[in-house]
Order: sequence, then C-alpha cells, then structure tokens
Amino acid sequence: MQKKPITKYKPWGVINLPDRQWPNRTIERAPQWCSVDLRDGNQALPIPMGVKEKVELFKLLCEIGFNQIEIGFPSAAQTEFDFARKLIDGNLVPDGVSLQVLTQAREHLIKRSFESLRGAKKAIIHVYNSTSPLQRQVTFGMSKEQIKQIAIEGVSLVKKLLPELPDTEVQLEYSPESFSDTEVDYALEVCEAVMDAWEPTDNNPIILNLPATVELFTPNIHADQIEWFSRNLTERNKAIISLHTHNDRGTGTAATELGLLAGADRVEGTLFGNGERTGNLDIVTVALNMYSQGLHPNLHFDNIEGIRETYERTTGMTVHDRHPYGGDLVFTAFSGSHQDAIKKGMDQRKNASGDGQEHWQVPYLSIDPGDIGRSYEAIIRINSQSGKGGVAYVLSREFGLELPKPMHPEVGQMMNKKADSESRELAAEEIYETFKKEFLNKKEPLNLISYETGKGDNDYLSCSAVIENNGKKIELSGQGNGPINAFVHAMENAGLKDFKLIDYRQHSIGGGSATESAAFVQLQIKSGKVAYGCGIHASIEKSGILALISSYNRVHH
Ligand code: KIV
Ligand code: ZN
Repeated sequence: MQKKPITKYKPWGVINLPDRQWPNRTIERAPQWCSVDLRDGNQALPIPMGVKEKVELFKLLCEIGFNQIEIGFPSAAQTEFDFARKLIDGNLVPDGVSLQVLTQAREHLIKRSFESLRGAKKAIIHVYNSTSPLQRQVTFGMSKEQIKQIAIEGVSLVKKLLPELPDTEVQLEYSPESFSDTEVDYALEVCEAVMDAWEPTDNNPIILNLPATVELFTPNIHADQIEWFSRNLTERNKAIISLHTHNDRGTGTAATELGLLAGADRVEGTLFGNGERTGNLDIVTVALNMYSQGLHPNLHFDNIEGIRETYERTTGMTVHDRHPYGGDLVFTAFSGSHQDAIKKGMDQRKNASGDGQEHWQVPYLSIDPGDIGRSYEAIIRINSQSGKGGVAYVLSREFGLELPKPMHPEVGQMMNKKADSESRELAAEEIYETFKKEFLNKKEPLNLISYETGKGDNDYLSCSAVIENNGKKIELSGQGNGPINAFVHAMENAGLKDFKLIDYRQHSIGGGSATESAAFVQLQIKSGKVAYGCGIHASIEKSGILALISSYNRVHH
C-alpha cells in the first residue's frame, strides 16, 4: 500500500441532491427481475458453459420465475448463437418469457443478433456502449458527442431492422455502460437521445439499464445517481429504470436495495452473484431479503439446495459456506448460547397455539430455513463450542428424546468433551450413540433379565423380576402403587435399595403403531451423588424399570 499521504486514489465526491427522497422510503413492491446468468455470469467463468449446461440453467431460471432472461451475446460467439437457436427451435421457452440478447451498437452485430432471435415470441434487444470519461478517453478516444452518436445510431439501426423479426414482440434495452462512472447529466443526455431515436410508448417502454459496471463508491451515492436520473428523465412514464450492480466493494446488494428506494423498477443480476471479478448482484439475496420483510419477490427459492446444486454443476462455481441464504453454514449455530436461544425460539413457536400466521421470531435466524427448503437438521450442529441446549435439541429433533432439563448440562458437557478431545464436529448419530452408551445401555452392576407385573394386594401392583447383580442372578419381588414403586420395593426386599428416587418422567416417541416410550429416572445415593438413567421400550412400564436400572448403574459407577 502507498504510504500516507495517499495520492494514488481520490474520493468519489457527491451528487447534488439535497432533497433526496430515498432515505425515507421502504421497498414496497417487487421489481421486474432479469437474470444475466447466461451472459454476464457466463462471460466471467474460467470455462464458459456449453449449450447443454446453458439449457439446464435456463430451465432452472424459468422454474424460479424469471420472465426476462439474458441468454447471451449471440453475435459474439457461435455457442451463444447456437444456444439461442436451440431454445427457440426446440420450443424450450415458456410463454411469457422474454429472451434478452446483448449486442454492441454496430450494424453487423445487430443483424446477427436478430438472426439468432428469429421465431422468438418475446425478445429484449439490449444495446450498450460505454459512456464514462475514462472509457471515452482511454478506450475509445472519442468526444461526448461521438459516444452519444454511437448509441443513437445503434438504436436507430435496431429500429430499422425490426421488420426482420415479424413474429416477435420486441422491447429495447439501452445501457450506458459504466453509468456509475459517468457524469449523471451526460448519461441522461445520452439516454434521452436514445429515447428520441427509439420513440418508446407507455405500453412498450424502453428499459434504461444504469449499470454500476465497476462498483466505485458507497451505495448511497448509487442511490443518489438513480434518484437524480429518475427525477430528471423527461418521459419517465415511457422508461423502465433498471439496476445492474457489480460487487467490487462488496456492497452490490446494498446498492441495488438503495437503488430500488431511489425509484428503479427493474433489477439485473445472477444467482449467488456470479459475474465479472467479484461478481454481479446476487438476486437470491435481494429477493430473499425482500421476503424476510414480508414482501413476496415473485421468485421462488423454495428449494435453494436444489438450485444451488444445479448452479454449481452448470457453472463450475461454488457457493461459499457463509453465502447469505444458500451457504452450507448460514442456518447453523455452533455456539452454545446461540443454540440455546434458537431452541427456545423454536420451542416457543412449536407450542404457540396460534393459527400459524404469527411472525417469525427465532433468535439468530432472519428467516425460517424451512421456507427455502433448508432442513432444520443443519441448524444446530455440535462441536466443542456447543452448549447443553444444542445437544438436547439434536436429541429431540432427530431421535424424539425430550431430556429432562436437569440432564442437559451433564449430557451437553459429555458431548462437548468428546468434540473437543477429537477436535471435530459430532454428527447427530454419534451424539445418540454416545448418549445410549452412557445413559441407556449400562448393564453393570445390575442387569435386568426378566420382569413381570400382576395384581397385588389391596389394589397394589405386584412385580417379580430376575436381575443379575455383578453377574449373580437374583430373583426379586415386591408390591407398590405403580410399576416403578413395586420394583423399588422388590429391590428393597432384596437388600438393594440404597438410593432415593428423585425424579421420574416418561414420554412417548414417534406416533402410530411404532410408538415407544422413553423414561428418565434420577436416583441419589447416601454420599449425595445423583445420576440420571434412561430407558426406551415399547412398554411404558418396562421403559421406567430400565431407566431406573440405568440410573442405579450410573450412580454406583
Ligand atoms: O456491467 C455492465 O455494465 C454490463 C453491461 C453490458 C450492461 O454488463
Ligand atoms: Zn455487468
């Protein structure tokens, strides 16, 4: 880095818009969306997609609900041309979907683009040329007037050639490329000249796409540019103002959201933000951000994992674990306090008696992962940072075991220690296996061989059992007001009762004919030592006895 003072870079400056309105607005409707995955996204791939991959991704984009899809730059490459033809000749374009093609404002390129679209029902011809001072000077060596003429001539040519697409409903899109880096009044002048040449109508408005080709400044300046442009455009009703942000500073999403507040009607972007350099705008994030505010984006991400899978396979890109909404870890909590809070929020929601319309309010989760097809499995995962609540949550969610609250710390610490000593995350199955080994299947010193109940004296229940005590078989019998009580008396009669029963509870697991019972018993011995044990069995009675024996074995360990 340059040492202070920094002379290599300068601040961007401000747009003169003292009465800006966007800061006081909220986003109130979903914009028109246009996917540029197959063009801007594709041109940024180390290995661009072939026709097969493009067709697959196109189908996915249609399923998500895009009805404007930029399919490529057909005049620039044969694959792009072939892809356009494949979509049209193969009848792969659903009704209502417009095929958008990008072309430079040059005659032979426009003609070739038209050829690629012949037979399409709806098309958007996207003409662009770069307008910023940097591009004017460095790339083209042209004056403002010359650059404006390129745009006018290109658009006029599209208009002249329109009869060559007799079966197609055509809309024009014009982009002053590098808009964000262009003087706003000059960008407006070029766009108005384009409108004069094209003569849009209220019914067939022109799309004026104002790209942040390179993101150069904070999103508020982008919003100022969009509001300034929107307010100063003469025939605003005949134009759809479109945003096309890139993400060089990491604020492409924010710039688009503020651009919408500033009056834009339409958004171009890609799935998961694939695109040149740091990417295009991530449409998934903007759309789901909207959804999280109670506004349906009219795009459907109900199966985000499937979408991600197709995206990764067709583009060869990967979605980062921390990527909003789609990343592997974004609905996962490792930290104990977060897990506790999430579990409480989930429980509260489960127990709420409402009609299912209540607002989503679960700590640390901005939306319900289930809404986008993410399973709850991933929400709480267990490593050495995790707490008691997380472990209890996993046992409950995965195996239907509702541990008594006083058991949580002991079970939590046990899993924590295991994860820490092995320096890794524990899978749900491993947690259950460890739990079973410690709380369920302890068979020493006592092991239950058989057990029966019958009618006892005075409405009491009688119990007779065979157990092994340190390998020695013993027959027991006793009576009590319930199975546990009868068994405790049987142990007492055999001289084995050196404990106090502190806690007993039971619940059923699963539903229908496969229901089992889980019981938890806590015993205390003279030294003050307490321990829980658990028993699981198809019979409620037996699960209680097994829990008592487990607890006995643990407290005597
Ligand atoms: O980023 C950009 O400016 C573009 C234009 C072609 C719209 O992709
Ligand atoms: Zn772009």
